[in-house]
Amino acid sequence: MFHARLTECAERVSGCLRTVFSELEKTPLVDAMAYGVTGGKCMRAFLVMESARLFGIPDSQSVWAASAVEAMHGYSLIHDDLPCMDDDDLRRGHPTVHVKWDEATAVLAGDALQSLAFELLARPELAADPVIRLTLCASMARASGAKGMVIGQAQDIAAETARKKLTLDEITVLQGNKTGALIGWSCEAGAVLAAQDPAQLRAYSCALGLAFQIADDILDVEGNAELAGKAVGKDARAGKATFVSLLGLETAKQRARALVDDAQAMLEPYGAKAQVLRDAAGFVISREL
Ligand code: IPE
Ligand code: IPE
Ligand code: MG
Ligand code: MG
Ligand code: MG
Repeated sequence: MFHARLTECAERVSGCLRTVFSELEKTPLVDAMAYGVTGGKCMRAFLVMESARLFGIPDSQSVWAASAVEAMHGYSLIHDDLPCMDDDDLRRGHPTVHVKWDEATAVLAGDALQSLAFELLARPELAADPVIRLTLCASMARASGAKGMVIGQAQDIAAETARKKLTLDEITVLQGNKTGALIGWSCEAGAVLAAQDPAQLRAYSCALGLAFQIADDILDVEGNAELAGKAVGKDARAGKATFVSLLGLETAKQRARALVDDAQAMLEPYGAKAQVLRDAAGFVISREL
């Protein structure tokens, strides 16, 4: 069920983004943008569409928010891979955007995907009520910017050269920004679309986001580059403090499992309707990519 829904969601989002790109003049910039939103797991989009389903919001509406968060996430990865950041050549099993095109195109494709995310959230197809669209634009700005993903990326880069290794609490804050903020936005989006209280989904996403990042750190140590579609072993080479380097592999795995239990418990109020989101939490720590 979970895998079928994830695939269905990825197809819907890719169809939506394809239509949007087909309305733009075909240029290397637009090709690079389309490439940058292709081939991912679409976990954030899935969280948007499933949280929306909990409240009876149709996919035809939520797909716009799901596409927006994948555009934002795609931008963050294109920039994350740049030589001035993580300097990676491989992403999702293919050459990174700056390798396939060039650095300027990668910077600009990321910039344009970021703008596109807000454009999609402003589309009337997302919600008839403009206040809901504005709320999602504003929360996306917070989650992706200097209080969210971007500050997390800055903290991550700073940690690489810091003389003192980060503590567990500091890493938890950093990851909450870098990875947690967009995952949190995705989980809460369904409740916002339905004008309902997102508190319960926020609690789910806090545990889920942390488990997701611990799994990413574990994959960097134990994962297979071919399966993961990206380089592994980079965190240790960069001397980066991660959940794994601080806790050790076994404790990190235990912590991730406990977080998945916590995340699942937060879905109690939604009963059987939330089963796919429960399964998603399990997937986050068992994935190989
Ligand atoms: C990778 O995110 C980067 C992190 C925030 C850890 P995903 O693992 O969701 O990457 P894709 O979108 O599936 O490629
Ligand atoms: C990337 O984190 C997070 C964002 C792009 C916000 P990482 O640098 O750990 O992600 P990977 O390992 O390259 O996918
Ligand atoms: Mg990085
Ligand atoms: Mg990286
Ligand atoms: Mg990583």
